[in-house]
Amino acid sequence: MTRRDYLYLHFSGIISLLVSACKHEPEIKPEPEKPKVPPLKTLEISSIIPDEAIAGENLTVNFKAENIKNVKVELINKKIYALETNIIESTIGFYKFQLPMVFEKDSLFSIKLSGDGLESIKENIKTQYKIPPLKTIEILKIEPQEAIAEDMLGLFFKTENIKTVLIELRNKKGDLLEIRNVESEDGFYLLSLPGKFEPDDLLSIKITGDGVIVTKENIPTFNVLKINTEDYPELKMLGGFQKLSLTKGDIWLKRVATNEMKAFSGQCTHAGCGIDFLKSDNLFYCSCHGSKFSSDGLVLNGPASSPLNQYNCKFVKDGVFELIY
Ligand code: FES
Repeated sequence: MTRRDYLYLHFSGIISLLVSACKHEPEIKPEPEKPKVPPLKTLEISSIIPDEAIAGENLTVNFKAENIKNVKVELINKKIYALETNIIESTIGFYKFQLPMVFEKDSLFSIKLSGDGLESIKENIKTQYKIPPLKTIEILKIEPQEAIAEDMLGLFFKTENIKTVLIELRNKKGDLLEIRNVESEDGFYLLSLPGKFEPDDLLSIKITGDGVIVTKENIPTFNVLKINTEDYPELKMLGGFQKLSLTKGDIWLKRVATNEMKAFSGQCTHAGCGIDFLKSDNLFYCSCHGSKFSSDGLVLNGPASSPLNQYNCKFVKDGVFELIY
C-alpha cells in the first residue's frame, strides 16, 4: 500500500463516521395518557303543571336530563303504590300523562324520575277532585196548560250543561205521538200536537238529555170541532139547542147570541146518566133520578147538586164556532 492509498482510506473512514454521526436522531419519549373525564349527567324535575293534581286530568312533568339515555318516570301514591310507570326518552324534557280518575281521600302522591343511577323526586303533590258540572233540565211551563188537538203547544224549559235534548209526547196509554231532537239552548220549543185525542186522554211530555230525564204528566187533552150553524138549523136561532154525540160523550149546544155559543156536558152531575133537553119546559132533565137543570145548566131539582159541566165554544166568524172538548 502506498502512502497515498493509506491517506485515502484514512480520510474516507473519518468522513463516513461524520456522515453517520449526522444521521443519528434523538429518541422521543411518549407523553403519559391524560385520564378521560366522563360526561356530566344531570336529572332534575324543574316543574309540574298544574301544581295540584286533578283526578282524570292531564299533568305535565318538566324535567332536565343531560347525558342520560332513558328516564324512568313513576307516579307513586301515599301508600307507595305505583299508579303509573313508564320509560321515556330523556331528550324530550317533559312528560305528559293523564291522572287516574279516582284519588283516595286526602291522598298525596309523588313523581320519581330515575336514570343512569340518578334520581329526582317531587313529593307530597296535592290531589283534588274536579266536581263535574251539574246537568239539569227543568220544565218551566207549557202553554196552553191543556193540550188542544191540532194546535201548538209551547214548551218552556231550561237546561244546564246539556247541549241537545230529546222531547217525547205520549198519550195516556204510552203510545208515542211525537218525538223531536232539539237544541236546548233557547229552552223553548213549539210542539205541533196530533190531530185527535181519545176520550179522557192525557198527555205526557218527557225530556231527556245526557242521562237526565224530566217528565210532565197528566196534561188534559182536548179535541176541536168546527161548528157551522148552517149544518144545524136549531143553532141558527138564538136560544136554539142541539145535541152532539162525540167521542167524549153527548154535548148540548145552546146558541146564546150571534157571537156566543154555550156547550153543556150531556152527563148528569149526580151519577153520570145522560140528560135530555125538554124544549116545552126549557130545561134539562135526567130520567135516572129526576134531577132538573135550567137551560143555563144550573140545578133546579136534585138529587144533583152541581151545575152541568161546560165546554169552551169559541166564536170564529159569522155562524162558525169552534167547540173545544
Ligand atoms: S144520575 Fe141524574 S139524577 Fe141521578
